[in-house]
Parts: sequence; structure tokens; C-alpha cells
Amino acid sequence: MSLGFPTESVKEGTAELLVPKLDAFKQKKEDYAPSKAPVFYNPRMKLNRDIAILVLQAYQRTLNRDIYVAEPLAGCGVRGIRFAKEVVGICTVLLNDINPEACRLAELNAYRNNTSRLVSISNHDANFFLSQYAAPYKRLDYVDIDPFGSPVPYLDSAIRALRDGGMLALTATDLAPLCGVYPKAALRKYGGLPLRTEYCHEIAVRLLSGCLAVTAAKHDIAVNILFSHSTDHYIRVYASLHHGARKADKSIQNMGFILHCFTCFHREISRGTFLSSTGRCSECGAPLKAAGPLWLGNIAERRFCERVEQAMTDRRFDLGKRVVKTVISVKEESDAPITYYVVDKICDKLGIPVPPLKRVIENLKKKGFQALPTHFHSRGVKTDAASSKVIEAIKTAL
Ligand SMILES: C[S@@+](CC[C@H](N)C(=O)[O-])C[C@H]1O[C@@H](n2cnc3c(N)ncnc32)[C@H](O)[C@@H]1O
Ligand SMILES: [Zn+2]
Repeated sequence: MSLGFPTESVKEGTAELLVPKLDAFKQKKEDYAPSKAPVFYNPRMKLNRDIAILVLQAYQRTLNRDIYVAEPLAGCGVRGIRFAKEVVGICTVLLNDINPEACRLAELNAYRNNTSRLVSISNHDANFFLSQYAAPYKRLDYVDIDPFGSPVPYLDSAIRALRDGGMLALTATDLAPLCGVYPKAALRKYGGLPLRTEYCHEIAVRLLSGCLAVTAAKHDIAVNILFSHSTDHYIRVYASLHHGARKADKSIQNMGFILHCFTCFHREISRGTFLSSTGRCSECGAPLKAAGPLWLGNIAERRFCERVEQAMTDRRFDLGKRVVKTVISVKEESDAPITYYVVDKICDKLGIPVPPLKRVIENLKKKGFQALPTHFHSRGVKTDAASSKVIEAIKTAL
């Protein structure tokens, strides 16, 4: 079959796929080839897909039956075809894309990987596609929204298409709004304000999770965030959905604000959907700045993370070191305090040399605080110590 554009064969996981030959679509050195090609394929999102496979396997094991999976924005089909090949216990993978050329390529890839029996492909707008499953006995177990930019335009229809207990996976690549470069855009899309702090990637995960919780609550649905991570240029959130007005009321009790002091690094949280005033820092008296409303609940659940880890150890295929490291770190962080400190940022402000992160963590632990590294930032530490104690621990680590 001729696709009418240059292609090449690549291997990802156990799948062998025909994808656009990315180099052929680069006119200038700085061109972002995946978005120049007639069908989308980004090899740099492999880690995102590797973790999705582990999470989906962990989720399938909690249900212990065959599951119905959908990817409404599928591109060349790599993710869904890998689900069909690599996750045990899937009965159907529905792939959809608005681009007819993507659908043709996905069809071909499903065939090349002997997955045509499990994979079915359609060519609709994602919201139209999802709305076909928004009725009892038609609903799906797992929906993976992996769009260009923000997943928010697809939230309502994805929530309606999932059954009680179903899982929604979201990618957001619009980190400029979410991390505070364009606060108005974040407020417009996510209903909360970001803040340009050293922990803006955690704020991004919490803004997306909060937006999901508030959107689900309109449908009398509660959310539990089971796993999330921030990697490269995107964030990813995996949530389970639970039907019931009372549960939804309880779920949105996790909404609130993070208040940050740009003078002394102090931060605090304020629960509730409204904030009458940001007030002043209890440590130094400077005015506080607020991020939110956003999700203050768990952004990973230890028990679920253990299942993801289990799926990782059971796997027959090689996983990159970075995947393993991310999964373990997210598990360790699941009980950690909200936000983190970045040692280099504090040292920069204080005009002092930067000590090893390990020593700062040891010093905090010696003083009886919880302290651990975070996958959000290679120089970050999550701790329940006040900012003044973190500064002390840094100085004694020099
Ligand atoms: C980031 S790519 C998807 C990549 C894919 N999920 C993967 O893992 O490789 C986004 C895809 O969404 C498709 N798309 C954009 N708008 C859409 C819409 N309204 N409905 C369905 N698909 C859409 C694009 O054609 C593109 O293939
Ligand atoms: Zn302060």
C-alpha cells in the first residue's frame, strides 16, 4: 500500500511500526519534525508510552478481567498497538484520529503487528468518537487522551465515556501556561492560576488534576489520582473515576491553593475553592503569592504505584533506566509533602556554594524531618521541614 509520503520502519517495545521518515519533513534545523509530518509520531514520547503500558497493566490486574481501551487521538497508532501487543487482558483497543492519513497508517500498523483482531480504527473528531460510548453498557475501562497541547477540550466526553471505576490517562504538553509563563491561558483552560516557582511542574500536575476533579464533579463523578509524572516537555496524570454525588462532593474537598513566599521560600496551603486574601508570610512578613485553585490531594497512590512496580518487574521486555527510576520515585513520593525545594535555587539566592543534595537530605533526616528526592527536579527535595530548616540543612551540608 502506498501512503504517498516517505516512511521508515522503527521498533518500539515489541511493536515494529511504519512511521513518517521524520528527517524528510525537516526543512530547517530547528523544525520540530513530528508536527511537520503528515502523520504524528514522536519517538521522544517512548517513555510516556512505556509508563502507560505499565500503568494499564497494573490497572487491568486490579480488575482481573478483559478490558476495553480507547485512544481517541491516536496518530500512527503506536500507543494503542503497543497496548494490544504488550498488555495482557485487553479485549478491544479502539483507535481514532481526525486525520484520515493517520487512520490509514494506524490500520497498516495494526496489521503488521498481528493486532487487527483486537484493534479497531475510526476517523472522527475525538469528542464525537467518545460520545458514542457515553451510555450504560457501552462505556469503556480506559481512555488515553494524548493530544497536541492541552487535554482539557476532551475531558467532558472522556469522563462520560468511562464506566464507574474506569481509568482516564491525560497528557498535557502546554507547559508554558501550566508553569506560569502565560497565567491567563492557564486560568482560562484549567480554571486555576499557576505560579513561576521552582516547583511549577508539580503545580502543573495539580492544576490539571484539579481541573479534572471539578469537571468530573459536574457529572457527579469523583476522581482518585493513582499515578502522575512530569517528564521532559509534558506532564501525565492517571485517574480512576467513581460515580456518585457524595463521592464527588468529597473529591472536590481536595481543592485549594498553594501560597508561596518569593522572599524566604516559605509555602503553605489553603483548602477550599475560594481565597479571600493571600495574606503575608508567617516567617518573614512578605506578601504571599497564590497558585490555584488546584488539587491538594494525592497525586499518586502508594498501593497502585506498587502494582505498577510489580508490572515492571514482571515484564518480559527491556525497560529503560529512566522508566524504572521514574516509577520508583513516583512511588516513594506518593506520601511526601506538597511542593519541593530546589537546593541550587536557594543557594543562588543566598549567594552560597551548592552542596550535594544527598547531604542536605541526610541533614534534614538527622533533624527528624521527612526528606527525599523528587522525580520533578534532579536537585529537588521534598520535606516537611520549614524553609528556614531547609536553609539550615543546606548551610551545614557545605
Ligand atoms: C500528539 S498526537 C497523538 C500521538 C499518539 N497518541 C502517540 O502516542 O503517538 C495528536 C493526534 O491528535 C489528532 N487530532 C487533533 N485534533 C483531533 C480531534 N479533534 N479529534 C481527533 N484527533 C485529533 C492529530 O491528528 C494527531 O494525530
Ligand atoms: Zn517569607
